[in-house]
Amino acid sequence: MDMIKRPRRLRGNEAIRKMVRETRIDKSSLIYPLFVIDGENIEEEIPSMPGQYRFSVDRLPYELERLTKAGVENLMLFGIPAHKDEMGSQAYAENGIVQRALREGKKQFPGLYYITDVCMCEYTSHGHCGVLCGHDVENDATLELLAKTALSHVQAGADMVAPSDMMDGRILALRRCLDGNGFKETPIMSYAVKYASAFYGPFRDAAGSAPSFGDRKSYQMDFHNRKEGMKEALMDVDEGADIIMVKPALSYLDVISEVSKEINLPIAAYSVSGEYAMVKAAAKMGYIDEAKIICEMAVSTYRAGADIYLTYFAKELAGYMAEGRIG
Ligand code: PBG
Repeated sequence: MDMIKRPRRLRGNEAIRKMVRETRIDKSSLIYPLFVIDGENIEEEIPSMPGQYRFSVDRLPYELERLTKAGVENLMLFGIPAHKDEMGSQAYAENGIVQRALREGKKQFPGLYYITDVCMCEYTSHGHCGVLCGHDVENDATLELLAKTALSHVQAGADMVAPSDMMDGRILALRRCLDGNGFKETPIMSYAVKYASAFYGPFRDAAGSAPSFGDRKSYQMDFHNRKEGMKEALMDVDEGADIIMVKPALSYLDVISEVSKEINLPIAAYSVSGEYAMVKAAAKMGYIDEAKIICEMAVSTYRAGADIYLTYFAKELAGYMAEGRIG
């Protein structure tokens, strides 16, 4: 054969394959989502997310220790309150679950970076991401509560806030509120391109946050749409977002790719609860090789253009990177 181009030359052994890798990843870009719950002495496994737990604040330090040992550096905290009400008042309570978790975590493990999810659905009795007017989620009234929630998180020690509610104008509302209260330097990671997705099912079991009626389609995005994702991302850039997130990850690599090409900010991608649950279930059945699938999903997300990866597999991935399986 008279060929001068032979792609296999660069695949001959591990050394050359590593040399020419196009995607390099580092554990500093991993964020681990963690559930904290009101109560004491609680460390309960989430049935739909085997291997993931809800921790009460007194048990949290043990988990933070395990995370630190595994090499995880960044956390995203989700709170599950004992009491939910119409206005989600525990979301912005000074002694709310996330606020207490932050104070404890910051005191005992100040080296970790604490991001908080800012939303109402874990805190409202109806499970929607904002204030209701009849059966509608009222956008502008919700903005005030979101801003209050973000401020109370930052006052309790959050290093960054991440609004996930999908109300219009929330980034500007949060930015103004934080700036007005002396927190000009606290970054906002926007769940900017967040689809109404069945992949959040296991999370809603974990947080008891499934809507009691209807669905989230009047605020989260329709998964038929790609251009709309860019519109959301550009709006949040204009409103002062520091990081733009696409969510979920696995079925949305096209969106990650496009957003990362157009937006000059770090791009985060969230591999959500349903992605985690599918891998766990298939691995348990012996249908797939769990570690290899975790690595391939992670690398493909970065290859698509993500700079930051939120995943329930952060501990495992940090380990695989240290072992040189990926990186
Ligand atoms: C809160 C929120 C959700 C997730 C992150 N923040 C649930 C939802 O929007 O219904 C989903 C995370 C996951 O599935 O892992 N709004």
